[in-house]
Amino acid sequence: MKIAFIGGGVMGEAMVSGLLNKKVVEAEAILVSDVDQARRKALAEKYGVQCSADNRSAIGCDILILAVKPQSLGKVLAKLRGKLRSDQLVLSIAAGASTKTISNGLGHDPVVRVMPNIAVQVGEGVCIWIATEAVSPAQRERARTILAALGKEIYVSDERYIDMATAVSGSGPAYIFLVVEALIEAAVHIGLPLELAKELVLQTVLGSARLAQASDKHPAELRNMVTSPGGTTAQGLLRLEEGGARAILAQAVIAAHEKAKALAQGG
Ligand SMILES: NC(=O)c1ccc[n+]([C@@H]2O[C@H](COP(=O)([O-])OP(=O)(O)OC[C@H]3O[C@@H](n4cnc5c(N)ncnc54)[C@H](OP(=O)(O)O)[C@@H]3O)[C@@H](O)[C@H]2O)c1
Repeated sequence: MKIAFIGGGVMGEAMVSGLLNKKVVEAEAILVSDVDQARRKALAEKYGVQCSADNRSAIGCDILILAVKPQSLGKVLAKLRGKLRSDQLVLSIAAGASTKTISNGLGHDPVVRVMPNIAVQVGEGVCIWIATEAVSPAQRERARTILAALGKEIYVSDERYIDMATAVSGSGPAYIFLVVEALIEAAVHIGLPLELAKELVLQTVLGSARLAQASDKHPAELRNMVTSPGGTTAQGLLRLEEGGARAILAQAVIAAHEKAKALAQGG
């Protein structure tokens, strides 16, 4: 199985790294096509993958992964239009670009649309995906194998969920990084050394996520478990609620979803 990445930026690299770490394919089976010479050089040196400046060199590959920014997608699709065989699978991670846009742009029916997140780099990503009817069972399994190597894969049959997930799990790591950053700053503010603060905060986020995942309790119940009446946590939570933490998170997700829908309409 030969995989071509069109676009070797942040996400392209994260996926290459994830696939190689999990040994889904050898480095020789990966081709990265990118307009940026420095990126090509860096990726070839770091991962031993083939690199090209011409997207047409991806045409012979079994799977073409479209990993360019949505703004660059139209040009990429036009260049590849009508050049793919029906047994080739196109997998797009571009935010807001529907399967219809990709299929029509390429004149090619077997298309998988994925919304990954940056944690694919360490095999802990989440990829929500959908496939067009023209994707064969074998192609579907290939897509599943690739995505499973990057973390959790979740197939959905309603494409609207992809735009919604963009605002939750696609952008999600950035929200969490902001929270982590703020907690570290706060920890330093009350006197903890920076490195210790970082270790405490990261393990707290990781442990809380693992606990919530392992438990069948609603997060509200877990929160109650650590909130003793009149205690320190209750005091901290009160300030979070007073500051509108819950409402602001809702507004962030709604705004990101609106943007994902606007991108889908070319905005
Ligand atoms: N970053 C995330 O967390 C995330 C999460 C989920 C989904 N996504 C999606 O993943 C896609 C890639 O995002 P990214 O953050 O990896 O973007 P990025 O870092 O900008 O990477 C895109 C790469 O493609 C190159 N490129 C631009 N036009 C090209 C063309 N015509 N042919 C070949 N290569 C071209 C860019 O070069 P230049 O820099 O020179 O333009 C850049 O190296 C986007 O569609 C985004 O919506 C991203």
